[in-house]
Amino acid sequence: MISVVYNINIYRQVLRDIIKQDDLVVELGCHLGNSTKIMSEMAPEGKIIALDKSEEASQSMNKLTSSYSNTEFLKADVRLHETLEKVALMIKDHGGCDVLSIDLGGGHYPDTTFKVFFIWSSTLRPRDTIIRNRGLLDFLHSSSSSEIIKSQEGWLESSGGDGVPPRLKELQLWSTNI
Ligand SMILES: C[S@@+](CC[C@H](N)C(=O)[O-])C[C@H]1O[C@@H](n2cnc3c(N)ncnc32)[C@H](O)[C@@H]1O
Repeated sequence: MISVVYNINIYRQVLRDIIKQDDLVVELGCHLGNSTKIMSEMAPEGKIIALDKSEEASQSMNKLTSSYSNTEFLKADVRLHETLEKVALMIKDHGGCDVLSIDLGGGHYPDTTFKVFFIWSSTLRPRDTIIRNRGLLDFLHSSSSSEIIKSQEGWLESSGGDGVPPRLKELQLWSTNI
């Protein structure tokens, strides 16, 4: 299932609803860890890998990871291929990613958010994805189509890999190696 939300309280409620106790969760844009804490508590037998590129996040997340042994923080830019590759290798032994959570600034960057969603979810193939972004939510409800193309998982599996490598390779954000 793919959920798109904007309101932070709805975002956190969806996290509570979908995360199971042994899930592996990848969180892109954790900031100070206020939602990470919820994830860490919802998946006591699982693992949380939280990422953010800001200095502010590092300080707060280092405190949080010392309280939750199931939670790891990576200071990294999620737009970079090397970041995705690192996380993909980290989760290999855990049987894959269950939940992908993306919040790169709820009111901003729908273009970057969608690209990050598409690349990360196509690679990690999560059961569920939750995206917090106002522009994508607006687009979702403001558009219509007579055609139906629909996926059931947390990634666009009905489209498979169609169109991914040739278009995104030029941005060096996609590799068939992972
Ligand atoms: C709105 S905050 C996230 C709030 C958090 N999800 C919560 O629930 O409290 C957005 C975060 O995304 C991070 N961010 C934005 N672009 C990023 C990128 N390319 N790589 C890593 N982090 C990014 C920012 O540093 C910021 O901390």
